[in-house]
Amino acid sequence: MFVSSDCTSNVTSIRVTSGMILRQRCVQHVIFLIIWKWISCPYKSKLFHSAEAIALSELNPLLDTSSLPHFSTIVSAHVVPGITKASEDLLKALKEYEKHLQETGSLPRTWESVEEPLEVLQVPFFYSWQIVNHLQNVKNSIELRKVFQQVQPIFVNITTCLDQSLITYNAFKELNKTSHNLDVPQQRILQSYLLSAHHGGADLQPQEQSKLNVINLKLANLTTKFRNNVLDSTKNFSIMLTDEESVKGLPELTRSLLVTNAVTETNQSTNPNKGPWKVTLDSQCYGSIMKHSQNRQLRKDLFHAHMTRAGSGDLNNKVLLEEIRQLRQEKAKILGYETYAHLSLSSKMVQQVDTVWNFLNFLRNKSYPAVQAELQSLQDFAQQHGHEGNLENWDIAFWMERQYESLFSLNDDELRYYFPLDTVLSGLFKLCSDLFGITILERNEGIEVWDPAVRFFKVFDENELLLASFYLDPFSRPQEKNSGAWMQDFITKSKLLHHTPVAFVICNQIPPVGSSPSTMSFGEISTLFHEFGHALQHMLTTVPYAGASGINNIEWDAIEMASQFMENWLFDWDTITAISGHYKTQKTLPQNMFQELLQAQYYFRASSMLYQLYLAALDMELHTSLDPWSQVKERVADKFTVLKPLVEDCIPCTFTHIFGENAYAAGYYSYKWAEMMAQDAFEAFTEVGLQNRDLVIKIGRTYRDTVLSLGGGTSPQEVFRLFRGRDPSPDALLRSYGLQ
Ligand SMILES: *[C@@H]1O[C@H](CO)[C@@H](O)[C@H](O)[C@H]1NC(C)=O
Ligand SMILES: *[C@@H]1O[C@H](CO)[C@@H](O)[C@H](O)[C@H]1NC(C)=O
Ligand SMILES: *[C@@H]1O[C@H](CO)[C@@H](O)[C@H](O)[C@H]1NC(C)=O
Ligand SMILES: *[C@@H]1O[C@H](CO)[C@@H](O)[C@H](O)[C@H]1NC(C)=O
Ligand SMILES: *[C@@H]1O[C@H](CO)[C@@H](O)[C@H](O)[C@H]1NC(C)=O
Ligand SMILES: *[C@@H]1O[C@H](CO)[C@@H](O)[C@H](O)[C@H]1NC(C)=O
Ligand SMILES: [Zn+2]
Repeated sequence: MFVSSDCTSNVTSIRVTSGMILRQRCVQHVIFLIIWKWISCPYKSKLFHSAEAIALSELNPLLDTSSLPHFSTIVSAHVVPGITKASEDLLKALKEYEKHLQETGSLPRTWESVEEPLEVLQVPFFYSWQIVNHLQNVKNSIELRKVFQQVQPIFVNITTCLDQSLITYNAFKELNKTSHNLDVPQQRILQSYLLSAHHGGADLQPQEQSKLNVINLKLANLTTKFRNNVLDSTKNFSIMLTDEESVKGLPELTRSLLVTNAVTETNQSTNPNKGPWKVTLDSQCYGSIMKHSQNRQLRKDLFHAHMTRAGSGDLNNKVLLEEIRQLRQEKAKILGYETYAHLSLSSKMVQQVDTVWNFLNFLRNKSYPAVQAELQSLQDFAQQHGHEGNLENWDIAFWMERQYESLFSLNDDELRYYFPLDTVLSGLFKLCSDLFGITILERNEGIEVWDPAVRFFKVFDENELLLASFYLDPFSRPQEKNSGAWMQDFITKSKLLHHTPVAFVICNQIPPVGSSPSTMSFGEISTLFHEFGHALQHMLTTVPYAGASGINNIEWDAIEMASQFMENWLFDWDTITAISGHYKTQKTLPQNMFQELLQAQYYFRASSMLYQLYLAALDMELHTSLDPWSQVKERVADKFTVLKPLVEDCIPCTFTHIFGENAYAAGYYSYKWAEMMAQDAFEAFTEVGLQNRDLVIKIGRTYRDTVLSLGGGTSPQEVFRLFRGRDPSPDALLRSYGLQ
C-alpha cells in the first residue's frame, strides 16, 4: 500500500548513465492520504490528554501521540498490539461518527460537522502507522518485517472501511450543495474527496461495485507479483568470470564488488585482481560493466540479460502486464471513462490526454535532431579510437564514458573532497535563509532518533516563530535501510490540531570513513537539494487544513516541481561557494572546476530527455491502446528512439513505476511536466541575474509566498500564475537541455 521510495538519478546529475535509467520517485506518502487528501496527527484535546491515552502510552510507546516518537524505546514487539489497538479504536470512532451523522441527518452539513471530526478520528491510528512504516524503511529487521506483514492487512482493512463509508460520502455530497460557504482550499479538499470516492465506486450500483472491488484486489495482487518478478529475475542471473582478460578496464572498486559476489559461491579468493569475479544485474554492477568493460561480448550478454528480465519462465511479466492493462481498462469503463489514461488524468493538473501528447510530441520534435547529432558525434569518436562498425546498444554507455573522460577532466573523488556534509548543509541553509527568510538550526536536545547519525533541525521564520522541524538521516546503512532518497511528510500542518509540520529527510550517501568527514558527490548533493525542495514545500505551507497543507492534495503531475526547482541552485556560483570547502584546505571549489561542471551538465542531455519521453509515451500509449504491448512498443519506439530497441527488448516487463503500482500509471509524464514548471520558475531568477542578490531575494520571497505556501489549497495552474504572472511554458525546459 505504500509508495515506495527511491530517487537517485536526478535531472541535473552531471553524468547521464547511458540515459537508460528510469527516473525514480521520492515522495514517501501513504497512498491512503493521497486518496483521502487529508493526513492525521495527534488531536489536541480529547484523545490527546485523556487519561486513557496516557495509560496506554505507558504500556506501548507506539501509541503515545503526545510527543515526537520514542524511537529509542519502540521495538518490534510493540507493533502488533499497538496497531491492532489503534485500528480498533479508529473503527469504533468511525462507527460513532457515522451514527452521529445519521442522527443529525436533518441538520445542514457544515465543514465543522462533517470534515473536522473525520480528520480528528483518524489521527492516532495514522500517527502510529506512519512510525511503523518509517521504521520499516530505515531500520528494517527480520522481526520488524514479520510483524509488518501481520499488520499490513489491518491497514488495508482500515482504508477500505474509511473509503467505502456510504454515510460519510452522502454527508460530503450534502456539504457539496452549500460549498459556496467554504473557502477555496476547503472546496478543493471537498472536490478531491468526492472524486476519489467516485473512483472508489461510491456512485455505482452494488453489482458494479463488487466487480470494481474484485478488479482492485486483483490489481493489488498482480502489481505486487509484477514487482517481485522484477526483483527475482534480477537476482536470478549471474555470470562467473575466471580470466583476467574479461575484467580489463574495470575500476578497482567494481572488481572488489565482483570478487565479493563470487566468494559466497566459490570460497576461493578475495583478491580483486585474481578472481573469480561474479557479474550480476544489480544496478551498480550492471552500470559499471556497461561503462567500463572492454569485453564487448560480455557487455552484449549482460545487456541482453538486462533487457529481457522478467520476460520468460516462471517470472514472466509479459503475461502479467497484459492482465494489468486489461483490468485497468475494465475499471475505467465501469467508472465511465473512455480509457485508463482518461481516468488517470481526471485527477491530474493536465486533465486532457491530448495535452499530454502535444507536450510529449513537442519535446520529441525539439530533441530528436539533437539526439541524432549526439549519437553521430559518439560514433565518430568511437571510430577514431579504434571501434569498428556501428555502435550497438551495448556500446553506448562504454563510449560515452570514454568521450566524457576526453572532454572533461572532472574527477568524482577529487570533486567530492570539496563538499563535506556539514559545509553543504550550512550552505543549503544559508541559501534558504537568503531566499525565503527562514532560519534553520540544529536542535537535537531531548530528541529520540532511530540511529545515532540522525539529526534534528528546527525551522524559524523572520520573527523567530517555529514553523516546522525535520529529521535528517544522511548515510546509507545497506543492512537495514532502503536505498534511494525520499521525504516523508510525517506530521502535517493543521490549525485545528495545533500542529506544525515535521518531515523525515532521508538520503543514502557514503558514511564517513575513519576520522575523515563524510564528503558528498555532486549527485548526492543534488539528491539532498531535491529532497529538501519537497521538505520546504511541506514545511513552509500556510494552508491551515491538513487536507491541503504542504504536499497534500497537490496534483501528482505538479508534485516534483518544488524538488526539481531546488536542484538548479547547484549551478549558482554563490551557492557553490557557500556549500563547498575542501575537507583539508577549506578552499571553496575553484572557478575552473565550476565552469566545467556547468559544461558537463549538457553532455548527452538531449538523449536523456528523449529516453524519458520514450518511457512517458510508452506509458500513455499502453494505457490508451488495446493493441498487444509489443506492437505498442514498436510503434512508440519508432517515433521516440533514434537507436532502436531490439525486437526481444521487453523493457515494459521491468517498468515497475507503471505496472508495479498504480501511482504512475498513465502518469509517468508527470516528471517532465513538473520539470517544465520547475525550470520556468527558476528562470524567474536567472532573468534578473543570479548575481543581483537583492532582486533574487525579492523573487525568493514571492516563490515562498506562492509555490511553497499554497500547497494543495490552490490549483497548481493558479499557483504558477501567481508566481510567474503567466502559464508555464516549455521554453525554459528546452534551454536547460541546451535545446532551442
Ligand atoms: C476488518 O475489520 C472489521 C471490523 O473490525 C472486521 O469485521 C473484518 O473482519 C476485518 N477484515 C479483515 C480482512 O481484517
Ligand atoms: C458538487 O457540486 C457541483 C456543483 O457545485 C456539482 O457539479 C457536482 O456534481 C457535485 N458533486 C457531487 C459528487 O455531488
Ligand atoms: C490474491 O493473492 C492471494 C495469495 O496469492 C490469493 O489467495 C487471492 O485469492 C488473490 N486474490 C485475488 C482477488 O486474485
Ligand atoms: C533461475 O535461473 C535458473 C538458471 O538459469 C533457471 O533454471 C530457473 O528456472 C530460473 N528461475 C526462475 C524462477 O525463473
Ligand atoms: C571457505 O574457506 C575457509 C578458509 O579458507 C574455510 O574455513 C571454510 O570452511 C570454507 N568454506 C567452505 C564452504 O568451503
Ligand atoms: C512534430 O513533428 C511532426 C512531423 O514534422 C508534425 O507533424 C507534428 O505536428 C509535430 N508535433 C508537435 C506537437 O510539434
Ligand atoms: Zn522527488
